[in-house]
Amino acid sequence: MIVVTDAWIFNGPIQHLLATVFVAMFIGISYLFVKKVQDLEIQLVVLKEKNSVLKTESENLKRKVELLEISYKQFVDRSEENKIEDAKQDTPKVAFYANTVTDHVNLGVHRTLVFGNVITNIGNCYHNSTGSFVPKVSGIYIVNVQILCSPGYELRTELVVEGAVKGTHYIGDSTHYSNGGGMAVVHMDAGDCVWVRVATTDGENDIAWESSFSGFLLYSDS
Ligand SMILES: *[C@@H]1O[C@H](CO)[C@@H](O)[C@H](O)[C@H]1NC(C)=O
Repeated sequence: MIVVTDAWIFNGPIQHLLATVFVAMFIGISYLFVKKVQDLEIQLVVLKEKNSVLKTESENLKRKVELLEISYKQFVDRSEENKIEDAKQDTPKVAFYANTVTDHVNLGVHRTLVFGNVITNIGNCYHNSTGSFVPKVSGIYIVNVQILCSPGYELRTELVVEGAVKGTHYIGDSTHYSNGGGMAVVHMDAGDCVWVRVATTDGENDIAWESSFSGFLLYSDS
């Protein structure tokens, strides 16, 4: 028979057992707590390292962006300068305009119309003593011929480039002044000779002073 006494309750095997269980639980919980703190410390160190790597990377990126901005600005500046230089170099200027045919009455077939009165002669390629335009630059040229003929006459004229006919014009009216001519877009080599001549005529003609020969370089070959 078990006799329950005060001593048994307060100082008995149950108390020992409970105390042992409490101590064990305390040690277990402490161990887990310390383990957890250690894990967190390790994680904190790892995060710190990652943070410093990211900081370095972001600083490097910032420096790279700054360098890119500088070289982009230099590139833009240089290309603007180049554009201006190219424009200066690539535009040879050729333009001429003359009127008043020096000998203007009864010109025969293949006689050259010499436009003596020079109004414009940029590049000095038009020669008013011979009536010929001799470009110093190869390229595409716009040339215009206008012939005003006195009443009662009829003729045809031609634009000639190095002996080859590049345009023909008819002028004639029995009772009124008549106007003829035309524009041509032609390739010319430097040194080519370009002039206007009579192609056909009924023998008599009278070319009015308002008649003109003009042209300009549209763009050069190079
Ligand atoms: C050519 O032009 C010059 C200068 O303008 C002028 O003195 C001369 O008389 C002109 N020649 C002819 C043939 O018209």
